Amino acid sequence: MRILGISGSPAAGGNNEKMIDAALNVATKRGFETERIFLSSSKVAPCNACGACGRGEKCSIRDSMDDVYQKLTDADAIIVSSPVYFGSVTAQLKALFDRSVLLRRQGFAMKNKVGAAMAIGGSRNGGQEKTIQTIHDWMHIHGMIVVGDGAHFGGIVQKPMDTDDEGMQTVRDTIGNLCDVLELMG
Ligand SMILES: Cc1cc2nc3c(=O)[nH]c(=O)nc-3n(C[C@H](O)[C@H](O)[C@H](O)COP(=O)(O)O)c2cc1C
Repeated sequence: MRILGISGSPAAGGNNEKMIDAALNVATKRGFETERIFLSSSKVAPCNACGACGRGEKCSIRDSMDDVYQKLTDADAIIVSSPVYFGSVTAQLKALFDRSVLLRRQGFAMKNKVGAAMAIGGSRNGGQEKTIQTIHDWMHIHGMIVVGDGAHFGGIVQKPMDTDDEGMQTVRDTIGNLCDVLELMG
């Protein structure tokens, strides 16, 4: 089974990419295939509401979403990590979320995939839970099966991630829980 990790940060080599790597390393050790989307190296324009996807056509915008649609479709589970920007996800990640409406309009292609979320902020209480809620909203609207860290909502970290041991434990717990659910589903 394949787990896709998405980092919503524009910062290459930053905290979110390291959190995705840490999570997917756990999944690899448990025998899962992994795939990554780092928005620092992708170009995803905002949805322009042209309506093409609602008519069963391909998206009218040509950018990295061509590849993202395929990776979202191929994954059995998706773990998303975002920096907190003004109490929510980054604009880059929101653009991906909005563009993914094509998969919803064309057969709910993400239905019953397992999903989990992580967020990191510069402050201890800078809006990580609200950011995770936004990611969970995206997953619910696609009909995904959303899991937390087994106790609360997912991975909650304060920058820099390398020194937030307690936060990184919630990252490990979240990916562990996601792997458990995939195994339960067989
Ligand atoms: C535009 C902007 C808005 C931010 N807003 C918040 C915020 O509301 N709360 C918070 O805790 N940190 C905030 N931060 C700090 C980022 O969340 C933090 O630098 C980021 O999570 C680091 O992840 P990265 O290294 O993967 O980019 C903000 C940073 C930027 C650039």
